[in-house]
Amino acid sequence: MIRYYAKGIPLSADWQYKYMEKIVVRGGKPLLGSVEISGMKNAALPIIYATVLVGSKCVIENIPSVRDVAISFEILREMGAKIRMLSRDTYEIDCTHMDIEGVSPELFRKMRASYYLLGSELGRFGRAKVGFPGGCDFGERPIDQHIKGLQALGGTVELENGNISIEAEGGRLVGTNIFFDIVSVGATINIMLAAVTAAGTTVIDNPAREPHIVDLANFLNTCGANISGAGTDMIRIKGVERLHGCTYAIIPDMIEAGTFMIAAAAAGGCVRIDNVIPKHLESITAKLEEMGVEVEDQDDAVVVRRSGPLSRTSVKTHPYPGFPTDMHPQMTVLLSQAAGVSYLTEGVYENRFRYVDELRRMGASIKVDGRTAIVEGGEPLRGAPVKAVDLRAGVAMIIAGLVAVGETEVTEIGLIERGYDDIVGKLQRIGADIERVVIPDPEQALPRAN
Ligand code: EPZ
Repeated sequence: MIRYYAKGIPLSADWQYKYMEKIVVRGGKPLLGSVEISGMKNAALPIIYATVLVGSKCVIENIPSVRDVAISFEILREMGAKIRMLSRDTYEIDCTHMDIEGVSPELFRKMRASYYLLGSELGRFGRAKVGFPGGCDFGERPIDQHIKGLQALGGTVELENGNISIEAEGGRLVGTNIFFDIVSVGATINIMLAAVTAAGTTVIDNPAREPHIVDLANFLNTCGANISGAGTDMIRIKGVERLHGCTYAIIPDMIEAGTFMIAAAAAGGCVRIDNVIPKHLESITAKLEEMGVEVEDQDDAVVVRRSGPLSRTSVKTHPYPGFPTDMHPQMTVLLSQAAGVSYLTEGVYENRFRYVDELRRMGASIKVDGRTAIVEGGEPLRGAPVKAVDLRAGVAMIIAGLVAVGETEVTEIGLIERGYDDIVGKLQRIGADIERVVIPDPEQALPRAN
């Protein structure tokens, strides 16, 4: 009788098991070859939700195959959208007939970006009803700036039974000047969406300047909106009566590109990263060059080479164009490979250090003091079973596995697949010893019904 084991526990044909997925990485191999970056998740999400505001057929290209996009499609379909796949990364989204009451609350809790429906529904219907958002746990993630801006535009806000309901007084929002106390990507997006069809002009002072804010403004302008200044510290939106459908291609994912840049720098070797906008990567390139990594910019690619030792450095995350907070965990892994003491300070979230305990299980020497990680680098990491505690922390565990001695198993990989399109296949194609494994989980077994 062949006996299978999982976690050292024998499996039996008399039991049925739930299955768990994990990523297994065996470290020590340099990365060589080229990788193609997918469309940017954090640009695709606001643009997908903006199709509710547009209210007619749009064709969106370069959409990444990631779980957050799939959940967003599920939410829009529950509201009545017709979504058709035209190719692996191109979808036709038709939001002509929509019902804002239709979505099940638990769907909203699966991801944070669903709250972009507040701006889209208000701009389209003069009212909105959205479940409280979920998203990665970095401590308190309030939405006070969103609410402040939507109220300033004439929205009356009610929080009831886990929903946020907003009515535009008189049925249509009215443009005004809005100053953000905090630079917020989400709040900038929501106010842009709500203001596009408001009566009069809206000026957003102190907005987020990320490339995905510019991408959303470009998409909305292609649909007939009148937005200027996106990407600067002042955005002006002149209200229009209605929008029309369009065809639009999402920008490449600068965080996926940065993740592969750090993977190549950490593992060593030479990797060409295709389908990028080098300007979006400037803060990451600058830090890697400080550490002795060679980065060569080309028109729509960067080539990353590292063969010698890494130098220690200090990093602080900031809103764009600063070093991105979504590159924080990946950068800590790289710092752990540089001899000496390096520092990484988190400048955006109150607590983004939950991944440090997982790295310590691999032998990393890291102390956290307030918002700063003090990394004593130079000792090799050792492979170990670790888990993804959030999207970017999960991919950082994979990078740690690439450089560790021995085998690393990463579980909770659903969090990684929320934001990375085929990360295992892309790494395999540049020489990583990595695989995605599905195994029965003996801790979730039920007697097989006879
Ligand atoms: C977006 O989150 C991204 N998510 C995050 O990426 C990213 O980390 C973040 O922007 C910063 O770049 C998506 O685009 C779906 P914020 P968002 O509003 O919009 C505080 C990933 O890994 N704040 O810019 O939620 C907030 O607590 C994810 O892809 C308020 O205080 O971020 C945080 O400390 C993780 N009040 C800071 O601002 C508010 O009303 C920045 O948050 C809103 C935000």
